Amino acid sequence: MSQGSTTPSTSAAAASAAGEARAGDAVAGDATGPVVVTGGASGIGLASARALAEVGRAVALWDRNEDLAIEHAAAIAAEHGVAAVGVGIDVTDTAALAAALATTRVAIGPIGGMVHAAGVVSAESFGALTDERWDFVLDVNLRAFAMLTQLLADELRLSAGAAVVGISSIEGLVGHPAIPAYCSSKAGLIGLVRSAAAALSPVRVNAVCPGYVLTPMLAPSLQFEPLLQHMESTSLVGRLGRPEEIGTAVRFLMSADASFITGTHLVVDGGTTAVR
Ligand SMILES: NC(=O)c1ccc[n+]([C@@H]2O[C@H](COP(=O)([O-])OP(=O)(O)OC[C@H]3O[C@@H](n4cnc5c(N)ncnc54)[C@H](O)[C@@H]3O)[C@@H](O)[C@H]2O)c1
Repeated sequence: MSQGSTTPSTSAAAASAAGEARAGDAVAGDATGPVVVTGGASGIGLASARALAEVGRAVALWDRNEDLAIEHAAAIAAEHGVAAVGVGIDVTDTAALAAALATTRVAIGPIGGMVHAAGVVSAESFGALTDERWDFVLDVNLRAFAMLTQLLADELRLSAGAAVVGISSIEGLVGHPAIPAYCSSKAGLIGLVRSAAAALSPVRVNAVCPGYVLTPMLAPSLQFEPLLQHMESTSLVGRLGRPEEIGTAVRFLMSADASFITGTHLVVDGGTTAVR
């Protein structure tokens, strides 16, 4: 695990805001604390980090792609004037999480939120399932969220407006014959956020279920014209989603505007599951 931090002139303001949050005795109020975003180097995680930075939240981009995490953190700090850090980590390595959190705290302050966007998909249908590929998908998409949330629970309770968001999927709501492990991980995440919301209350914990969003994860599927057409046509808005459209939903759930929303999931799919 390693890191690269960027501390612009406004980082003192960010640290001060985080300090005031810690002094609060409840999690009600404006959410200002620094946010850990797993999978922050790409796609939906990166868009979520950017959306949070736009409203002044310090962010830590945790990703197994360390170079990209550091590069994007520097760009976010420069563009939005917040403290930002890129941390290279495999989030399935539970033993490394505490050290990564310590590094993150030093760089951007006590943690006041977490977005779990690190995710993988693996195309093994029934008949081709293996223990190894099953664990690969479930470990990143589901187990890492549980372990990191557990580790952060006490710290989040000290931070005003603290919230956690797990990126699930519409594939957690409906089945897909080609990716049963992925669907299981995403359905499991919806169940897990309910339990975590109950355990961490008053810290709020929710899931976002994106539809088809144009990110590197989806890129291989886009090579097949019929598949692309299917994904576009099943959306009621007639196109794929943009990562930013998920990032703003994440930002909403992390904000005081969502203060009465916890233990549930928000579908952001352009209407795909409304008609499927
Ligand atoms: N793109 C879509 O259509 C779509 C739809 C629904 C849900 N999702 C979910 O959104 C989340 C983000 O996906 P995306 O589309 O932005 O994909 P992406 O591939 O662009 O981003 C995923 C990021 O997670 C990181 N990552 C993967 N495994 C990791 C690990 N073990 N440790 C640390 N980092 C790791 C990758 O390096 C990458 O930067 C995923 O959970 C995905 O399942 C995506």
